[in-house]
Amino acid sequence: MADTTVTMDKIVSLAKRRGFVFQSSEIYGGLSGAWDYGPQGIELKNRIARFWWKEMTQLHDNIVGIDAAILMHPRVWEASGHVENFTDPLVDCKKCKTRFRADQIPPENLAARKCPECGGELTETRKFNLMFKTTLGPVEDESGLVYLRPETAQGIYVNFKNVQQSNRMKIPFGIAQIGKAFRNEIVTKNFIFRTCEFEQMEMQFFVKPGTDEEWFEYWRDQRWNYYRKLGIDMNKLRWHRHGPDELAHYAKDAYDIEFEFPMGFKELEGVHNRSNYDLSRHQQYSGKDLQYIDQDNGNERYIPFIIETSAGLTRQLLMLLCDAYEEQKVADKGNEDDWRTVLHFHPDVAPITAAVLPLMKKDGLAELAQDIRAELKEDFVTDYDQAGAIGRRYRRQDEIGTPFCVTIDYQSKEDGTVTVRDRDTMLQERVSRSHLSEYIRAKIKSYKRAERIS
Ligand code: GAP
Repeated sequence: MADTTVTMDKIVSLAKRRGFVFQSSEIYGGLSGAWDYGPQGIELKNRIARFWWKEMTQLHDNIVGIDAAILMHPRVWEASGHVENFTDPLVDCKKCKTRFRADQIPPENLAARKCPECGGELTETRKFNLMFKTTLGPVEDESGLVYLRPETAQGIYVNFKNVQQSNRMKIPFGIAQIGKAFRNEIVTKNFIFRTCEFEQMEMQFFVKPGTDEEWFEYWRDQRWNYYRKLGIDMNKLRWHRHGPDELAHYAKDAYDIEFEFPMGFKELEGVHNRSNYDLSRHQQYSGKDLQYIDQDNGNERYIPFIIETSAGLTRQLLMLLCDAYEEQKVADKGNEDDWRTVLHFHPDVAPITAAVLPLMKKDGLAELAQDIRAELKEDFVTDYDQAGAIGRRYRRQDEIGTPFCVTIDYQSKEDGTVTVRDRDTMLQERVSRSHLSEYIRAKIKSYKRAERIS
């Protein structure tokens, strides 16, 4: 009996082998905390981003988007509290030189100042600020100091008035943004789970003080349902409410949605009640009036409260790989073809939607297949493969999670039909070429995650 447990090693190996994720600067030995996204990885990442963007903006009339610069005025990070508070406790082993986050080693080791790796002596715990610094302009001194943003949220807060006034937004309303964030993490492990360069998908929802708790519940609900729509196994998700010691410096209340990764339940996304902390601080530090004027209520003025939903795009990609991965026994012939590795992505996010495969290269089948592919690629991301036995080609597509394989055979030449193989059930249906796009679109729309066999 083969061991079909999903492990991080299997995910890392598939991700490299099938062009999802590569180590950054691999030919130079790699750079810890940074990863590159290959042809399948970038399609998947873009499609997750698109799925989230649609969910947050297109499906909510009162949410608009922005794309703020990564580099911001350094005062932003003083106002936000990051210069003072965005720190992790750090200890080093004097003997083996390993660096640890003090809150991630056993408390008894910390108390005895004993290295959990080699037993050597640990340094005193000191605070380490996670923000990357660089300089703007040709002179490398403090006057040009800027930070690489550690969260995308602040780009939204400083544009609160610009967006509200230019788009005549009325509270309650939200601003969504997807973009890179950088943190000089002390420990980066578990592949792309925690990296120094990553992407966030954040939405800041501005509400009237006093209505914040109601909206907080609303957004917790919305974000939970998002994962259901994405076809995630909901048994692998759970809530974790932050205790008083865990709350970030800005938070009044906070919940994480956690996913059961191969290394256990870990944070996937946070939903935070940030109170009026952020806008009050930016008002104080910038000297600009950031109050909202409620023209429908006698020009009442107030600093809005903010409910934030903050998801990691790259972490969501890892979650999708882990959730979709399955090693499945599909035959009993006693050879390697008995097994397939399949990624059960929701078709809305699968890197390739349809692969077009001529049964044979000869007899005009390849030309016909290319013709059909040319039609399909107007509507879908497609792949074309004519190399090797058809069974092997199906397996290759299963491994990158392609939901539909369109096969062109001799009958296709006769009657203009093709077969469409469903990735999850492996069943094939004959479909007329003229209805192919429509058929695939309808299948995507009605997609339901199938029960797992294993
Ligand atoms: N604006 C609030 C904020 O940034 P956070 O809990 O620090 O909150 C939100 O981060 C999300 O960003 C996390 O739930 C995670 O998905 C992602 N994230 C944070 N740090 C990360 C890292 N070093 N690598 C990858 N993703 C990260």
